[in-house]
Amino acid sequence: MKEWNLKSWRKFPIKQHPVYPDNQALQAVETELKNYPPLVFAGEARNLQERLKEASKGRAFLLQGGDCAESFDEFNAINIRDMFKIIIQMGAILTFAGSCPIIKVGRLAGQFAKPRSSDTECVDGVELPSYRGDMINGAEFDSQSRMPDPQRMLRAYHQSAATLNLIRAFAQGGLADLNEVHRWNLSFVKNNAFGKKYEELAERITQTLGFMKACGINTQNTPTLKETEFYTSHEALLLNYEEQLVRQDSLSGQWYDCSAHMLWIGERTRGLNEAHLEFLRGVKNPVGVKIGPKATKKDILGICDILNPKNESGRLNLIVRMGADNIKECLPKLLESINPEGREILWSCDPMHGNTIKASSGYKTRVFERVLSEVKSFFEIHQSEGSYAGGVHLEMTGQDVTECLGGSQAITEAGLGCNYNTQCDPRLNATQAIELAFLIADILKNRNIPKNSKAC
Ligand code: PEP
Ligand code: CO
Repeated sequence: MKEWNLKSWRKFPIKQHPVYPDNQALQAVETELKNYPPLVFAGEARNLQERLKEASKGRAFLLQGGDCAESFDEFNAINIRDMFKIIIQMGAILTFAGSCPIIKVGRLAGQFAKPRSSDTECVDGVELPSYRGDMINGAEFDSQSRMPDPQRMLRAYHQSAATLNLIRAFAQGGLADLNEVHRWNLSFVKNNAFGKKYEELAERITQTLGFMKACGINTQNTPTLKETEFYTSHEALLLNYEEQLVRQDSLSGQWYDCSAHMLWIGERTRGLNEAHLEFLRGVKNPVGVKIGPKATKKDILGICDILNPKNESGRLNLIVRMGADNIKECLPKLLESINPEGREILWSCDPMHGNTIKASSGYKTRVFERVLSEVKSFFEIHQSEGSYAGGVHLEMTGQDVTECLGGSQAITEAGLGCNYNTQCDPRLNATQAIELAFLIADILKNRNIPKNSKAC
């Protein structure tokens, strides 16, 4: 394979790439970004890889989730806090009810660029470039907003830095303290059946902490009780941005993309001889690739050869997003052909992107029961093929939105408009997210876990 460098992706064909009208303005932004401090450290990305190794062996479980797309307008402390709360709340459910160490990775602090199914959008006979995420252009349907503007990358960087700053404070400064477990239940969830189920679980955790305290184990002598590890991730789509945040680690001499701990490439940009794979192969972070129903054995082995030539455990996460029906048909065949190859793969399940439909009212939505069904099938198929279901990858929010149909609140098509607020794809709301967490916890508790489990 040819030598990699920061810019080698530029020689490859690239999909989903914006065309900037002013090349000089683009270069000026790139130079500025290159001088900005890294958002994460190489050592943190290495720690994450250690954790992911455990998940790939069934001894831990990856919980990755957040908005489909972060937005400049929705940027405030409440949204960040509630997203953090819902992720650690799901983490508590899965750890306690599922008896499994949970690796928490947010889809946040950088999730601003979106692949689109069409390059243009047509409204009332007017055709404009599609919205590609706030770091590229604006969602408003007018020609000026839809023009890619490189200044948006700087704003995305600053928003990511501020988001990460608050997340780090929450993770280390009290909100993640297990003694606060009751506070993680968001107020609008409390009266729901799953909110109540959570209250019972929180009560049991509190009692357990009381017992441990009586035995001499407390937050003073055991700081892990009041802190949590929380990692960030986003789709590495806009390579002009990602390239500028690559730094050489002084300890190992390796290159890391310091825009996030983990980066993934989407279903539409994972071509073997294309720019996105070329870029990701050179950075040492844990990386993910989305896998749709059409993926072949050749695709997967090609991805493994390019992204993980040394076959390191915890390096490569394949994120299966086939849809509730397709997964039953496609994943068993794929695993039958891939598992005997001995490739180190962390398999996770994105039950969102293969289940998107258009409601008759025109809203893009997902049926919650189909999301549950895809997750269940994912576990069952891995169990019967002898591999491990290592994690889930979700689009969700800590807000009480009405974007996905069904769940215990029985959101109907007519109810979608009540609080439909997503910047791009429909997200699970906090109640649906908790319901899903309880379902996964049940499955985790009952699966055959290999011995010598190491805690995260
Ligand atoms: C996404 O994760 O938001 C996304 C666009 O996914 P996919 O590449 O799987 O379609
Ligand atoms: Co999405």
